[in-house]
Amino acid sequence: MKIIVTGGAGFIGGNFCHYMVNTYEEDQIICIDKLTYAGNMETLAPILEKENFTFYKADIADRKAIFEIFEKEHPDIVINFAAESHVDRSILDPEVFLRTNIIGTSVMLDACREYGIQRYHQVSTDEVYGDLPLDRPDLFFTEETPLHTSRPYSASKASADLLVQAYVRTYHLPCTISRCSNNYGPYHFPEKFIPLMIANVLNDKKIPVYGKGENVRDWLYVEDHCIAIDQIVRKGTVGEIYNIGGHNEKTNLEVAKTVLKELGKGEEYIDYVTDRPGHDRRYAIDPTKIHEELGWLPGTPFEAGIKKTITWYLENRAWWENIISGDYQNYYEKMYKDR
Ligand code: NAD
Ligand code: TYD
Repeated sequence: MKIIVTGGAGFIGGNFCHYMVNTYEEDQIICIDKLTYAGNMETLAPILEKENFTFYKADIADRKAIFEIFEKEHPDIVINFAAESHVDRSILDPEVFLRTNIIGTSVMLDACREYGIQRYHQVSTDEVYGDLPLDRPDLFFTEETPLHTSRPYSASKASADLLVQAYVRTYHLPCTISRCSNNYGPYHFPEKFIPLMIANVLNDKKIPVYGKGENVRDWLYVEDHCIAIDQIVRKGTVGEIYNIGGHNEKTNLEVAKTVLKELGKGEEYIDYVTDRPGHDRRYAIDPTKIHEELGWLPGTPFEAGIKKTITWYLENRAWWENIISGDYQNYYEKMYKDR
């Protein structure tokens, strides 16, 4: 089978490419990535020379470029990870989020219609459901929870989901959608909370915790997300949405303390900074459907996953130091100075 993976030079798409190339030698994995600030060829270096891997540098919102790749490759399956993914950046500058996340998705869907595919899979996020109150631990996001977005990032992802559903209903395009909770693991860009903390502490800098650190996220080790997507594409039902999560809710403060403890540092490294505007309080996935229909369960508990992640950042300093020594410094200044 020929499988197009967009956004494969990013965090989750990169882990997915590694997983697929190494698990299914008979399949051809074709990665399309624009290589934005978040895309990194170093992430793909370990698989770049493999016979069952091909890379194209292209923008998913560039209709001509995408159609040319489809004309050449005639893929069987398309999995769309490519996106602008950072909430804080979407607050600073929403426009590129609309272009990539909505227009880009529409171009990918049109290419699938034109050339015919067995399956299109949209990698979405639990953030499309909005947030849950902190004092109602009994509430979870199910696939029936109404879309209720609160920032440009999630609004753009929800718009893409609606488009995918429209293409299923109108054109009978065989699509599935997954909505996953927060991921962590190797190759995670250091603007995001967990790798930002690890990189800061390894450089003997404090870690910025927004507000009081009370917000809750439901953390999943990235490989578990990759396995879930693979199962949805192979065994999931066309037209369905699958939530992915492992009931691993933690406050940001709990996560910060865990990272500090693992790195042998104390709580004096925590710097409480001004909160994110309209900061979503709690995300929590109910994964009953994917468990019951596809038998998926997360394989890596948080305690083991965070140790593996920290070890990876210790052993791969060049990967993240390269990132934080470039343009990232300007972003960090803009985001955290005077905060
Ligand atoms: P990321 O920012 O690390 O990577 C995004 C990748 O997409 C980069 O390689 C970038 O170069 C590429 N890209 C961006 N715009 C592009 C364009 N116009 N054309 C082609 N490529 C483009 O993101 P991530 O954290 O790996 O997220 C991947 C997907 O998973 C996204 O769709 C995101 O919404 C979703 N998701 C992420 C999380 C999470 O915790 N990170 C959780 C749930 C869902
Ligand atoms: P993030 O990794 O940006 O993911 P998301 O906003 O998509 O959940 O942030 C995870 C949580 O950590 C979120 O509640 C915001 C918080 N956070 C901080 O407290 N400090 C930081 O420097 C960052 C980047 C995030």
